Amino acid sequence: NTLIQAGKLAALGQMSAAIAHEINQPLAAIRTFVASTKIYLTRGNSKQVNGNLDLISGLAERMANITSHLKTFARKSDTGRAETVDVTRAIHGSMVLIESQIKLAGVALDMQIEPDTFVKGYAVQLEQILVNLLQNALQAVEGVKKPMIRIGVTATADTVCIKVIDNGSGISKEHLDKIFDPFFTTKPIGKGLGLGLSISYGIVRDFGGEIRAVNRDTGGIEMIVELPRYHPESAMSYV
Ligand SMILES: Nc1ncnc2c1ncn2[C@@H]1O[C@H](COP(=O)(O)OP(=O)(O)O)[C@@H](O)[C@H]1O
Ligand SMILES: [Mg+2]
Repeated sequence: NTLIQAGKLAALGQMSAAIAHEINQPLAAIRTFVASTKIYLTRGNSKQVNGNLDLISGLAERMANITSHLKTFARKSDTGRAETVDVTRAIHGSMVLIESQIKLAGVALDMQIEPDTFVKGYAVQLEQILVNLLQNALQAVEGVKKPMIRIGVTATADTVCIKVIDNGSGISKEHLDKIFDPFFTTKPIGKGLGLGLSISYGIVRDFGGEIRAVNRDTGGIEMIVELPRYHPESAMSYV
């Protein structure tokens, strides 16, 4: 759990610049709207004042959304009873944290997510895996001509398969079986600690699943996470 916490803090550190940017945008917009609202107010244009206040509250909500996700992410996960985790929600939760970086880097994002897929475990931990995989994908596509990241979720009756695909650097043969080792990194200091995948590996094992990396023929890699599927409806019918 201490290692998981360390990994999260490392991920947060890497995200902080992009998040500051993401929060600064609505902040700057709010300042502008406040200034124009004052003018509308002196003119007695209450319709415009109302409209602006709605926009301001929408922007504030966006900021609150980001910070609340950050808090949940940084929180130590309970080691109590496993929860029913909605995979789609976990993906959207991780996107809140990483979206700004994807936008800043101009990476095309494609999501093909099968809805109503659930697993047993901890939502925060699944988000942590996704943030780690997405962060790696983002770093891998740096400098690529048409950077692309695809998130795919498919499910069978008893397995949920989550894929994070990129068209980045790929992984050399001799590195492929080391990437899940703690502190294995090919990145310079400050960019990588080599904890993301080893922690993700541990979490996936706790979920009763498997994680592996496959090089794509067309460049880049596919990170594949397979987790046992959970069917909440069938559990409910016993209540
Ligand atoms: N999407 C990816 N594309 C290419 N290489 C990757 C990718 N994801 C992980 N790797 C390789 O695996 C190593 C370990 O990843 P990780 O455990 O997340 O640590 P870190 O990102 O801090 O280096 C990375 O340094 C990199 O060499
Ligand atoms: Mg990493």
